[in-house]
Order: sequence, then structure tokens, then C-alpha cells
Amino acid sequence: MRDDNQPLLLKNAEYYTPQGFELGHLLLDNGRIAEIWPNLPSDEEIAARYPNFAVYDVADKLVLPGAVDTHVHVREPGSPQKEDFISGTAAALSGGVTTICQMPNVLPLPHNAENLAVSRQAAEKALCNVCIYAAAGADNQADFAELARQGVCGLKTFLQPSYAKEPQYLTINNAATAADDELTSLLRAAVPTGLRCFFHCEDYGLIAELEAEAHAKGEEGYDFHYKTRRDEVEINAVKRVLAAAKKTGAKVGIVHVSTVGAAELIAAAKAEGVDVTFEVCFHHLFFDDSWLDKFGPYAKCNPPLRSSANVQGLWQYINDGTVDYLGSDHAPHLLSEKQRGEQQIWLAPSGIGHIELMLPLLLTAVKQGKLTVERLTELLCVNGYKMLGLYPQKGCIAVGADADLTVVDLQKDWQFDSELMQTKARESCRHLDGLPLSGAVEAAVVRGRLLYAAGKVDYQSAGWGGMIDCRR
Ligand code: DOR
Ligand code: ZN
Repeated sequence: MRDDNQPLLLKNAEYYTPQGFELGHLLLDNGRIAEIWPNLPSDEEIAARYPNFAVYDVADKLVLPGAVDTHVHVREPGSPQKEDFISGTAAALSGGVTTICQMPNVLPLPHNAENLAVSRQAAEKALCNVCIYAAAGADNQADFAELARQGVCGLKTFLQPSYAKEPQYLTINNAATAADDELTSLLRAAVPTGLRCFFHCEDYGLIAELEAEAHAKGEEGYDFHYKTRRDEVEINAVKRVLAAAKKTGAKVGIVHVSTVGAAELIAAAKAEGVDVTFEVCFHHLFFDDSWLDKFGPYAKCNPPLRSSANVQGLWQYINDGTVDYLGSDHAPHLLSEKQRGEQQIWLAPSGIGHIELMLPLLLTAVKQGKLTVERLTELLCVNGYKMLGLYPQKGCIAVGADADLTVVDLQKDWQFDSELMQTKARESCRHLDGLPLSGAVEAAVVRGRLLYAAGKVDYQSAGWGGMIDCRR
């Protein structure tokens, strides 16, 4: 790891503030924003206080608080051949993301302090900041308090039946009324810890029924995946979580919301005072189920890509303030695993390793007038930190705040090229090649250090990142 800590001057910055973009010159030192000068002092004046400072000119670019991706699956510990903390955080940086929130479906499963320590240690190689969700299920409620003390950013539960074959999923029973008791009891156990409980919402009972039906009828094309996970699959599960949250007063979060039906339920629950956060993962805003028809296993994820009515409909919730933050659900898989689904879609694992596409695509949406750059910044660079309890130390461009910054170029027109990706899953992303984009990530800075610029990741800085404690 590099050990220098050279001050860095970001010259000619147009930087985000909640009141609007401002012009100034940012001096980063000791991991923090040390100065914001409206007028640039002379080199001598700067050097007198910040010897040996480096300069990065960001004229004509926008400087945002470092983006936070609330939904990332680095495959370490357990499957580093798919994505380890170096490749995963390099991919994050090349996508302009300076903080990732790591989902807990890894092995050993971080469902107690001992296993969490293994994840924490694996994350020590990271280039950027890492928050870690702990796994929560029916069996580890006694561990919640210690997990909270260890600084996890939340509890994550896959609302699905236990898969004996997939020990990386800790679950609660999803069957019938008994399941609601499990859900309620999990939420009650979480309340005193202050941790928010996040849920992957799919009704696996219904999926199993629909899958059996489709197989029986021989309806086994690529549309098998979304037809057996239709909107109700998500809506049913979201209903249950919101009802249990209301009953217990627990803080909950619905991750990767993909249907208008679920969005309506969450909006209504918020209006009733339920403390629920609303995450959308960007692919559900840009790609509809025709991508799954066309690209099969490479466009397969859970929840699935949806009808264009859902894709269009979610934008209203983006723009009216109901959605709290955005994630990528970066879920890398090997090409060989994805290839298994080319003939039989159900054999491919779900997930797309595309964190590097998130911000460019969102900037393209800004260019197209689908949302403002201010709203994009709130959704990707501010609100996630509020949820994590890290704001305003992060998510804020102000003197004294952490110097985590994302520099973007709104002018650049280009085409996506999976060869340039840092993720180990780049070969499973070839279906994205040639996608036209307007807007690019220019640079990413983590605690004052320029770790990504001009298309290059500073791999020498592996270990500069690591797990951040989200104690509350
Ligand atoms: O598509 C998905 N992939 N959805 C999930 O919930 C899990 C993820 C994974 O870990 O691959
Ligand atoms: Zn996920």
C-alpha cells in the first residue's frame, strides 16, 4: 500500500451543496476537506500551509460527494474468484463509488461477531470504504446486539425458505402465518439495537407454484424467469414486511424495489409514519424485460427486469422524493456459470456485475431530462449516508467533512465497453457493449487520495479502504 499522504488541491471545482452548485477550490488534507477557497491563493501561500501539495484541475466537471452504493455483492469471503475486495472496490471506484455496502450472502455468513470478523478482515484489502450488512434470520437474534456493537450497517434478511444447498443465505421461514411470527420476532429483537432490518422481498411460495406450472406447460424460454416472478411475488412480500414494521415499530428497509405496486405500498406506509427506506437498483430504471428476452442469463437478476410499465412508473417515485437512495445490486458471476443458463434459463445464477455502469447511465438520464443532477446527487451521494448514520461526515462537501469525492463529466458522449471494466465479471457484461452514454465518471477520491482518474485505478492503494463502523 502507498503510505504517502500528500495534500491535494482540486482546482476550479463546481461542487455540490444542498443549496446548489458552487464554484471554489478544494484543498484535501489528512483525509478531510481542509479548505474551500472561493478565490485561489497563490501557490506559495498554499505551499506554506500544505507543503508538497498536488494539483488536479477539475474545470468543466462537477464534483459530488463520493457516491455510496447501498447494495453490493463482493464475493469475499467465500468466492474470491468471482469478485474479491480489490477487484470489487476497483470496479466501484471506476463507477465513481467511494463507499459500498456489502451484502451478507458470503461464506462464512456474517451472522455473528466471529464470522463478521472474517468479512472485516477480507475488506482490509479494499480500495474504498466498505459498510457491511449482517445476515439476520430466525436463529441469530441473540447476536444482533453484538453485531450492532461491531458496527454493521444493518441487518439483511432474504425472505425465502432456507435453502439447505445455499448456506450463504440466512433466511426466515416464508411459508404461512407462522412465518409472520418469525418476522415479527426478528423485528422485535432488532428494535433495541437501533439497527435497521433490510429485506429482499420475494414470495418464494408463489415462485415455486409458478415455476412448477411453467415447467408442466413447457413454457421454458427466457421469459420463464420473469413470468414465474411476476409483480405479486414482490408485492406480497413487501406487504408482509410493512405490516410487521407497523406492528413492531422497527426500522425497515426494502431493497431493490422493482414494481410500481410495491412502490405504492411503501409510499402509503411512509405517509402513515412507518420508518421504511426505499431503495431502487438502477437496472430496474433502465432495462425492461425485453432485455431478458434478448440476453437471457446475462440479464437475469432477482427481482427480475420488469415490464416497461414498471420501468417507466418507478421514475415518478424517483422524482417525487419517495425513493430514498439508489444502488447497483452489483452481483458478479463467472461467465461459465452464466453460460449454464443459455439453454435453460433457470440454471444460471441471478445477478449482474455492473456497478461501473450505474453512474454513467444515471448521468445519461440527467442529460435526457429524466431527473436533475441535484436529485441524482441526493439519491446517490447523500441519502445513503443519512441512512447509514454517516452524514454529514460523509455525503457533504464542507470543511471538516471526509474528503470522499466523485468527479463527473456531464459532457462526455461515449459507448460502454465491458473490456474496460475492473470487475472480474466483465465477460458476463458483454451484452452491455455499445450502450450509448452521455456523462462519465472522471475521478474518484477516497479520504483525500485520488484513487481513480483518467480511466486508471490506483491499485497501489489496495488497503486504503476497509470496513467503516456504523455505530449508533
Ligand atoms: O440477482 C441477484 N443476485 N439478486 C439477489 O438478491 C442476490 C444476488 C446475488 O448474490 O447474486
Ligand atoms: Zn442483492
